[in-house]
Amino acid sequence: MRRLLLLFITATTTLHVAAQAQVPTYLNPKAPIEERVKDALNRMTLHEKVKILHAQSKFTSAGVPRLGIHQLNMSDGPHGVREEIEWNSWNAAHWTNDSCVAFPSLTCLAATWNRSLAATYGNAVSEEFAYRGKDIMLGPGTTIARMPLNGRSFEYMGEDPYLAGEMAVPYIKSVQANGVACCLKHFALNNQETDRMSININVSERALREIYLPAFEKCVKEAGLWTIMGSYNRWLNIHCCHNDSLLNGILKREWGFDGAVISDWGGTHDTWQSATGGLDIEMGTGTDGKTSDKSLGYDTYYMANPLETLVREGKISMDIINDKAARVLRTIFRTAMNPNKAIGSLCSETHYEACQKIGEEGIVLLRNNGGLLPLDARKYNRILVVGDNAVRNMSEGGGSSELKTRHDISPLDGLRAIYGDKIEFARGYYAGRALYAKAEKLDPDSLQKLHDEAIKKAKESDLIIFIGGLNKNGYEDCENTDRKSYNLSYGQNELINDLAKIQKNMIVVTFGGNAFATPWINNVKALLHCWYLGSTSGQTLAAVLSGDVNPSGKLPVTFAKEQQDYPCFKYGEEGYPGKDGQVHYKEGIYVGYRWFDTKGVKPQFPFGFGLSYTTFKY
Ligand code: BGC
Repeated sequence: MRRLLLLFITATTTLHVAAQAQVPTYLNPKAPIEERVKDALNRMTLHEKVKILHAQSKFTSAGVPRLGIHQLNMSDGPHGVREEIEWNSWNAAHWTNDSCVAFPSLTCLAATWNRSLAATYGNAVSEEFAYRGKDIMLGPGTTIARMPLNGRSFEYMGEDPYLAGEMAVPYIKSVQANGVACCLKHFALNNQETDRMSININVSERALREIYLPAFEKCVKEAGLWTIMGSYNRWLNIHCCHNDSLLNGILKREWGFDGAVISDWGGTHDTWQSATGGLDIEMGTGTDGKTSDKSLGYDTYYMANPLETLVREGKISMDIINDKAARVLRTIFRTAMNPNKAIGSLCSETHYEACQKIGEEGIVLLRNNGGLLPLDARKYNRILVVGDNAVRNMSEGGGSSELKTRHDISPLDGLRAIYGDKIEFARGYYAGRALYAKAEKLDPDSLQKLHDEAIKKAKESDLIIFIGGLNKNGYEDCENTDRKSYNLSYGQNELINDLAKIQKNMIVVTFGGNAFATPWINNVKALLHCWYLGSTSGQTLAAVLSGDVNPSGKLPVTFAKEQQDYPCFKYGEEGYPGKDGQVHYKEGIYVGYRWFDTKGVKPQFPFGFGLSYTTFKY
């Protein structure tokens, strides 16, 4: 019997070892990634190598089916996992199981100045990506806020390279610890949306190195970033998605980046330049990013058949292809074929908790005259809430970071939940639907009615909470366009002033990813800036207004008094938005507070400013 048992054990062990020996290295999850990459490369044909260098659908790039190597599933990013769209168009796929948690905007995260919250954010958001089967999150962004009208500042982390880098590193580390790659945006110098596809940035070497690159560099070196997205704009007159000096020179050689460079969608323009200019995965070609949908031939991408032809003709070396394919394979083994990739979860309780916590710490109290806040509800019987943002879903719109959320608590709902019947609402103004690259035409008579109704109700109130600011409409906080003015739109300045004339107890609450003018500041008692708070907006706002939470956020951007106070507007159109396709960063390193501090320009609220409900004596 014992002998039989021994025989059995020996036989099964031998079988097991034999089976293991048959697992090729590239499929062996225990093998070091570099060995897996090398082994896979050795087995792939030229065609297969080229195949993994470009899109095979709007948001996936191919694997190698013959070898069982997985494709890469990508999704925007960075505030939650985007709604599923059709394989080959920008249309929604209308799934019923792809609603997510919208987390606060990255400017809100930056305003917490709290690295461990950045890690909490990264962990929570990437669990949602993992659960939805995504390998690459298109985000976060560390583009520096040079210009206060930038339509995408809400997706970035403010004007200071140190702060942006310090916040991005823990975020990226926690995302990647879950086996999801971050694709850091937008490399580099994507500081405006106007003419984003073509504008060439002229910037001094010093400003480049001291202001615009350090946050990216930190993410590469300290977070071990896995992928990065080339920006649409040009530098040295070459598009950044295939800019040899930027991608091969600085990113790969100087900083030692070993991951994959992914083009922005429609940011690739040439086969030769892509081959030699450091691009590894071409995405979205054939569209201008969002607005046109041609039927796409993925084989005709710059880095598809045309690239293969150049290799076959001996014009592009096999080394270049091997290097690119190795970077893509590395990304696949780190994510899609990572044995430790998290299973993740969608809309879990801890995700909502994280959302609320980040929001609570990111809200910035900018003014609190006479200690009106925290709100002592016992003192007021009729609280009037005015403003479009009180009821607007602020996860809709904004471009690629738009989110389809499962639950949303609007500011009005959040306030009603704690102040109940005391709350009365008047919209006061209406911003129209969140359209991309255009603004809805609104009927002036209806707008006047909203204004008049608010004024009428104001007369019957004993406290007003105005909830406005920016939103995710085209020409507000939305990609592809910048804001047209530093002032709040839709007549908000006038409305705030009109209301303040009637009711002295007035609190202004603003949402928005950027700074704006506050010409009414001395007429209102309190101002609270919320950035975007995601799915739990209402609860988060209510917690801070009521004093359940003491505000502690600090501005990651300078709020100037007037638009002209920002350095980028000092040099005419050459400084912004550019002339003849060229924009010149003539202010050099004097971006944000560096300018205000050294040139003696008094801001409305300086970088780093933020009050709390505590009073200090020194
Ligand atoms: C944006 C990117 C985004 C991509 C895919 C582009 O228009 O610039 O940030 O990741 O679209 O949606």
